[in-house]
Amino acid sequence: MITGKTSVFGIIGDPVEHSLSPGMHNAAFDSVGLDHIYVPFNVKTEELEDAINGARAMGIRGLNITIPHKTEIIKYLDYLDIAAGLIGAVNTIEFGENGAVGHNTDGIGAIRAIEEVTLVKEKKIMVLGAGGAARAISFQLLLSEAENLVISNRTIEKAQELKDDLVEKLDQEVIITDLGSDLKKELEDTDILINTTPIGMYPNINHKPLVTADMMHKELIVNDIVYNPLKTGLIMEAEKAGAKTISGIKMLMYQGIESFRIWTGIEPPIEIFQNALLKEMGLEKF
Ligand code: ATR
Repeated sequence: MITGKTSVFGIIGDPVEHSLSPGMHNAAFDSVGLDHIYVPFNVKTEELEDAINGARAMGIRGLNITIPHKTEIIKYLDYLDIAAGLIGAVNTIEFGENGAVGHNTDGIGAIRAIEEVTLVKEKKIMVLGAGGAARAISFQLLLSEAENLVISNRTIEKAQELKDDLVEKLDQEVIITDLGSDLKKELEDTDILINTTPIGMYPNINHKPLVTADMMHKELIVNDIVYNPLKTGLIMEAEKAGAKTISGIKMLMYQGIESFRIWTGIEPPIEIFQNALLKEMGLEKF
């Protein structure tokens, strides 16, 4: 029941109506007996400053930030944590005694999803794409001591920009390729392949994946961050090749779990997040 003592959390973005986060967080708050509620707020870019000031004034305790505000929001915050500062994007705000602190749990969410299967430390990893998601994941991979990072992107200049930033801030080697290069050869000694492009995402579920079964090997671990559909074309190709697969829904789940931990100090039960997501998506299992 909502009372005068209930603490309010939420997500701001545009659009937010299909967000799966309210279901996850409300179920988790309930399960650990916290008098908290999580609400979606649709906020246009021109209203972002008012929204964040309103959130402060009304004592909102925490917010998730989603498309298109993850970068724009930074100028309205008081501090950033290390990952958010490096990535230059925020998906979680914690309001507290120190003001509004920005965090980024997208990259760590992806790493936790992968680490259900294998550690990223000392692995050779190929990231497909060089947009916002690739950026968050690439920084976190290097922070997690991945040994070798290859970023492969349609527009090589975008891959170069991301590489320059990674090298400048973390002083580690990064290799870039375009999609015309011999990805099969590059994949021969790759341990983990992560797709961050929207290829295969609903409604374009029949778009040919950038990597097909004939280019993969059995020991490869394939993670597609697209989760609608759960089984993307890339995941089907990986299954055909006998490779291990990780669904994009796991990244969504773990970024939520990390936000929850930041706001409450509690590591929530994973099954609660998992079951809430399954319910929202009308599925029985991932
Ligand atoms: P996000 O912020 O969600 O990561 P984004 O910034 O739009 O999304 O990035 C999408 C990435 O997918 C980009 O790297 C894009 O490649 P370009 O830099 O060449 O634009 C890549 N991408 C999108 N559609 C693609 C397609 N049909 N084929 C290959 N790459 C594609």
